[in-house]
Amino acid sequence: MATDETSPLLPNVESEEPARNQNTMSGTLFWRTGAVFGAAAVGLGAFGAHGLKKRISDPNKLANWSTAAQYQLIHSVALLVASNNPVAGTLFTAGMTMFSGSLYALTLDTERFRFLGPVTPLGGLCLMAGWLALAFGKRGAGLRWPRT
Ligand SMILES: *[C@@H]1O[C@H](CO)[C@@H](O)[C@H](O)[C@H]1NC(C)=O
Repeated sequence: MATDETSPLLPNVESEEPARNQNTMSGTLFWRTGAVFGAAAVGLGAFGAHGLKKRISDPNKLANWSTAAQYQLIHSVALLVASNNPVAGTLFTAGMTMFSGSLYALTLDTERFRFLGPVTPLGGLCLMAGWLALAFGKRGAGLRWPRT
């Protein structure tokens, strides 16, 4: 019996291809970046809860550090989800670096890193824009886990 290529019983591999075609270099890079940023966020958060307390007594500064670690952790997961959306991936990566990075620096040495003050809200805007890029961008492939 000849195989009918158009049989509805055969999985239509071609039509699935665009959605599964997410293993791009940028997708892998965002995925790995999200995972590494996530690991770093847990470490930095733990440091803020323990080692840092010996050096910094101002509870407001410690709260800023904790906020930075929380935002980094949440957006690391967002970066995994967004790894198939280069616009969102770029915005989350830049946003975490600017938002959390500036808060860490300002907590460690407020005087030296005073110039980073305006970078924090800019990073926050990038994070928001990343979520909006997910809202209005192409949906789906990144949520097909596990990635292969
Ligand atoms: C905490 O961060 C904010 C910016 O998000 C800054 O305005 C504030 O001065 C910081 N607080 C301390 C105690 O460093």
